Amino acid sequence: MSLRDELKGIVPQNYLSKLPNRFDVIGDIAIVSVPQGMETYNEDIARVIMERMQNIRTVLNKTSKLEGDHRVANLEIIAGESTETIHREFGLAYSIDLKRSFFNGRLSFERKRVASLVRSGEKVLVPFSGAGPFAISAAKTAATVVAVEMNRHACKYFAINCKLNKVERNIHVINADASSIPNMLRTGFDRAIIPTPYGMDHFLESISTLVKPGGYIHFYTFKPKEDIEGLIQRYGNMGFEVLFHRRCGNVAPGISRWVFDLKK
Ligand SMILES: C[S@@+](CC[C@H](N)C(=O)[O-])C[C@H]1O[C@@H](n2cnc3c(N)ncnc32)[C@H](O)[C@@H]1O
Repeated sequence: MSLRDELKGIVPQNYLSKLPNRFDVIGDIAIVSVPQGMETYNEDIARVIMERMQNIRTVLNKTSKLEGDHRVANLEIIAGESTETIHREFGLAYSIDLKRSFFNGRLSFERKRVASLVRSGEKVLVPFSGAGPFAISAAKTAATVVAVEMNRHACKYFAINCKLNKVERNIHVINADASSIPNMLRTGFDRAIIPTPYGMDHFLESISTLVKPGGYIHFYTFKPKEDIEGLIQRYGNMGFEVLFHRRCGNVAPGISRWVFDLKK
């Protein structure tokens, strides 16, 4: 649905051109980013979305970027009541409170792609696990998944999500800082899935020490396109074979999220 087309004649043209045409949908919640100064049209924006998409129960206005250690944006309710929802993707369900824990529906393809590479019997490590979407997708095949997340609210929803998806027996969720992983866990993982928060690339070195030689690492990082060739060389110099890489979403002008599939 084109938000700008739907709002023609309701919102003046000079404002409309500033409004992002796209918005995210997570479960039954729509998330828009209304530019400053346009707040008087919040109700119109929410009404148009809810009229066109009958499954939407809440409309949120994202008034900041992802912030702080927990990577959560400031979200203001402009219609509806709750920031909690259940999001479904590829047969899995995730309960989430968007005000308290990170969740990005645009990574669904990546979760499916990485989960499809996991083989039965594997032991998988997932730091920065949030409310569990990468870990739970992997746990459908893996023998064991160990997930580490510092946000206790995310861990609470993670525990609910393990039950919702019937993987509570092979996932261990640890509420801790990822920097304690090398002291807390023993080596011997077949695979690590690392959805690294912005600016924390140094974790690749410490977390990869827990992966067996011959094991795999899926490393997510935020970079401009011109850095990619240099990064491939750098990972090679660190002793990894770079099997695959792809861009998986724009995060800021000129900066994208990239994934690198590495073999140790
Ligand atoms: C980019 S989000 C990814 C979340 C999840 N993997 C997903 O895709 O929904 C990063 C997560 O890392 C967590 N985090 C940030 N710094 C951390 C740290 N030092 N140790 C453990 N978790 C951390 C945040 O709370 C957040 O949930």
